[in-house]
Amino acid sequence: MAPFRLRPLTDDDVPMLLPWRNHADVRRFMFTQHEIGADEHRAFFDRALRDPTRAYYLGLDDETPVGLVTFRDIDPVQESASWGFYTRPGSPPGTGRRMLTLALDQAFVRDGLTKVSGEAFAFNRASIRLHLGLGFSVEGFLRSHRQCGGRRVDVVRMAMLEGHWTSEHKAWLARASEARSRSAGGDAPRSYRVDAHGGLAQLVVNHLTAGMGSVTSVHLDALRAATHVGTVELVLRRVANGAGQATFDIDIVDADGATLARGRADVIVAEGRA
Ligand SMILES: CC(C)(COP(=O)(O)OP(=O)(O)OC[C@H]1O[C@@H](n2cnc3c(N)ncnc32)[C@H](O)[C@@H]1OP(=O)(O)O)[C@@H](O)C(=O)NCCC(=O)NCCS
Repeated sequence: MAPFRLRPLTDDDVPMLLPWRNHADVRRFMFTQHEIGADEHRAFFDRALRDPTRAYYLGLDDETPVGLVTFRDIDPVQESASWGFYTRPGSPPGTGRRMLTLALDQAFVRDGLTKVSGEAFAFNRASIRLHLGLGFSVEGFLRSHRQCGGRRVDVVRMAMLEGHWTSEHKAWLARASEARSRSAGGDAPRSYRVDAHGGLAQLVVNHLTAGMGSVTSVHLDALRAATHVGTVELVLRRVANGAGQATFDIDIVDADGATLARGRADVIVAEGRA
């Protein structure tokens, strides 16, 4: 399985988006509400993909397209943009959160933006919950702001600041490091909870390298591709020791107790540390 990732949208992807965008579960939450025709769709993206104030990314789950994230009004002077998104109808739960986590890293870490804003109809509970879950703050409640299905509806404006995003990320790293120091040593199964923004494989590698000292290499089986955002429990069980080597069985379990990933790690350590 390939890791969840984003890639820039291309002209060839455009036809695939039309049925997603026109699907009732997407269209009713869009500010432009009419059913979009094929010509209108193509003409829109012909312009939009060449507009320097816009950027479009596809979310890929194991290389299958599962959603679209749009940045609009990208202003390099103000270091700001607004965003919009939708997932492919029928995509698995968690798709939105995974895709948008990567999109915020793209905006703040790679593109150097300082502020990303989003607006949602006040009745769009999934979008608002998703924004707030990612750490966005509500900055405005715009009463009777837009037409929607023949009535005027309220709109919620939300925003994320770069400092907040990166400090949340730092807070996660601090929690992971604290958990590592608690669980270092001993042969008993070890578990801890972290809010993992990103790859579970990276979490395991961090854990092993910090917990065991002079690790020179970690070979991971099966976990490589898994990503998750949320609270996870990492359970490591040492199953074999050799000279300068340790082997662990690894389970990664979500907050509901479901196993997200399972794997094995072979760790090569400097002599005397395994
Ligand atoms: C909004 C959207 C991107 C969310 O994607 P998703 O993959 O369903 O989201 P996730 O599964 O990652 O869930 C994110 C949060 O939304 C919540 N959520 C998802 N669907 C929900 C629904 N129908 N009602 C209420 N909350 C919902 C989840 O419970 C989760 O919250 P939690 O972590 O607090 O439990 C997707 O539903 C979509 O494309 N909607 C139509 C287009 C749209 O509204 N775009 C945004 C315009 S502002």
